[in-house]
Amino acid sequence: MKDSIVKLFNVEPMSLEEFQNFSELFRKISGINIKIDKKGLVDSRLRKKLIHLQLTPKEYFSLIQKNSEELSDFVSALTTHKTDWFRESIHFQILTDYVRNKKLNAPYKKNLSQPFSCWSAACSTGEEVYSLAMTFNQMDDDLNNWKILGSDISTHCVEHAKQGIYEKDVIERQIPIEKIKRYFLKNIDPQYKDLYLFTPEFTSKINFIEYNLVKSKLPSELFFDVIFLRNVLIYFDKEVTSFIIKQLYNYLKPGGLLFLGLAESIPNSEKFKLKRLESSVYLK
Ligand SMILES: C[S@@+](CC[C@H](N)C(=O)[O-])C[C@H]1O[C@@H](n2cnc3c(N)ncnc32)[C@H](O)[C@@H]1O
Repeated sequence: MKDSIVKLFNVEPMSLEEFQNFSELFRKISGINIKIDKKGLVDSRLRKKLIHLQLTPKEYFSLIQKNSEELSDFVSALTTHKTDWFRESIHFQILTDYVRNKKLNAPYKKNLSQPFSCWSAACSTGEEVYSLAMTFNQMDDDLNNWKILGSDISTHCVEHAKQGIYEKDVIERQIPIEKIKRYFLKNIDPQYKDLYLFTPEFTSKINFIEYNLVKSKLPSELFFDVIFLRNVLIYFDKEVTSFIIKQLYNYLKPGGLLFLGLAESIPNSEKFKLKRLESSVYLK
C-alpha cells in the first residue's frame, strides 16, 4: 500500500534518456521535434497520465508502444491545442471579402450544385470550423452551398469537435451575443448547465476526421477552395513545413486561398506557385 502511494504521488522527472525516447517517438508520429529545453513541459504534460496509470516513465513508454489507444492519448497530451472562436478575426473578414467581391466562379453561387469547400487542417477542438460555419452562413446571399472538413491529429480534439459542446463562459467572452442566440443551444441537458451546443443545423455540411499532416492522405478527388492551416506550422522545422505545404498545395484548387496563422509564413512560397496576399494568406 505504502509503495503504491509513494508511486502515485512521487513522480520523478524523467531522465534525459527517457525524454529522448518520448521525443523521438513523438517526432516520428507527428513530425514535431521537441527540443531538450522543453523537457519540463513534456514532464508536466505526461505527469497526469503517469499518476493516473501509476507507471514510471519507462513503463509508460513501453505501454504506448504496445497500445494504440494509449499512444493516441500520448500524442494528444504532447500537442498544443490552444484555439479560440474567430481567432485572428481578420482572416474571417478576408474570407468574406473574397466571397463577396465576386471572386468566386459562378458554380459556387446560390443554388448551384458544387459546394464551396473549406478544410480546417489542424482544427483542434473545432472552434475554427464552427467560426467558419457561422461566417459562411452569414453570407447566405452570396453563398449558400458550402461544406467544411475539420481535421486534427488528436483523437480527443476530433471527438470534442464532433460533439460541438463548449464552455458557456468562453463562448460568452469571445462571441457576440446575437451570434450566440442564433447558433448555440443552451440548457440542452441539466448535466450540461454551463455548456453550449453548436447548432446541429449544419451537421450535413460539416465533417470531422483524424488526419496527420505528415502521414495521412485524403482521397485524390478532394479539392478545396480554402484551406485553413493556422498556428500549427510553428511547431515544425523548415523541411517538414515544406513537405506539409507541398501536400496541401495539391488539395487546393487553382484560385483557392491558403490561410496560415498571422505569425506564420511559407519559406520559399514562390517554389509552390503561391502568391502571398496579406496577413499570411496565400493565393494559388
Ligand atoms: C495550436 S492548435 C491550432 C488550432 C487552430 N488552427 C487555431 O489556429 O486556433 C494546433 C493543432 O495542430 C494539431 N497538430 C499538431 N501536429 C499535427 C499533425 N502532424 N497533423 C495534424 N494536426 C496536428 C494539434 O493537435 C493542435 O490541435
